[in-house]
Amino acid sequence: MSLVIKNLTKQYNKEKTGLSDYSITIEKGILGLLGPNGAGKSTLMKIIATISKPTRGTLFLDGQDIVNNPDYIRRIMGYLPQDFGVYPNLNAYEFLEYIAALKGVGGAGLRKRIDMLLEGVNLTADAKRPIGSYSGGMKQRIGIAQALLNDPKVLIFDEPTVGLDPEERVRFRQLISDLADDCIIILSSHIVSDIETIADEVAIMKNGMLLDKAIQPEIIGHVDGKVFETMLENSDLHAFKAKHLIINTTRQKEKTKVRYITKTPESETASTPVSATLEDAYLFLTHNNA
Ligand SMILES: Nc1ncnc2c1ncn2[C@@H]1O[C@H](COP(=O)(O)OP(=O)(O)O)[C@@H](O)[C@H]1O
Ligand SMILES: [Mg+2]
Repeated sequence: MSLVIKNLTKQYNKEKTGLSDYSITIEKGILGLLGPNGAGKSTLMKIIATISKPTRGTLFLDGQDIVNNPDYIRRIMGYLPQDFGVYPNLNAYEFLEYIAALKGVGGAGLRKRIDMLLEGVNLTADAKRPIGSYSGGMKQRIGIAQALLNDPKVLIFDEPTVGLDPEERVRFRQLISDLADDCIIILSSHIVSDIETIADEVAIMKNGMLLDKAIQPEIIGHVDGKVFETMLENSDLHAFKAKHLIINTTRQKEKTKVRYITKTPESETASTPVSATLEDAYLFLTHNNA
């Protein structure tokens, strides 16, 4: 399976560009879209889900043009929108039956499939309660279940882990990993840790553009050997910030521990090299292309 996207532009209006000349090829496995708010992640996902049309550009899934033939992907796709609204008066079971009807999923296996999905997202015990009474995390989980109803081959999850507690995140990761072998799975987040534990490949986005897409070690390679830690006097912090890209700071009484990225560490600051993480690379890439 492959989804080939070329020169995609989404111009919302004169001032607002969602995506500009965006090209990417997505294969089987889990791709994490990582970018700050406004980067264009939801715009890209809406266009792939055929909810929104591009201003320019092409999308081909296994050679089929899905801009002009959206049904080709709709039949085999599951989509969790970022602003997932639910029907507050339906219970989880009724809601999934309703979505199944919309998607044209039916037949003898439907009951079993709904039970299995409710189990998978840990909602079996609450399946008879109206969704309106659910917590944010529970609503998110019913959203995940509806995306999986039609046994999709292309899964698009826009900020799926928002509202999930750590245990629910682990569950989500397991659910997704089990599907990854023969599906294209695209997840978005603006939180690095959400993506790094789950994605095979990462696409870093900013300002409607793709900054890089690669497996995690390659993305991290951008900052290998450039990440350091040092202890600074609090009074020196300001001047230091002007010279280097600061990843984070931890105050310890009069001194501050600083993690930073540089090509040339200053010897007088007694810096220690540390191993680079996806977060370091993400901040480096999105900072450089401000
Ligand atoms: N319906 C819309 N009308 C106008 N501008 C929009 C609309 N949706 C998104 N945008 C703009 O497009 C850009 C990308 O937004 P979005 O795709 O939602 O980014 P992300 O999901 O990465 O936060 C932002 O500048 C946003 O303000
Ligand atoms: Mg978004």
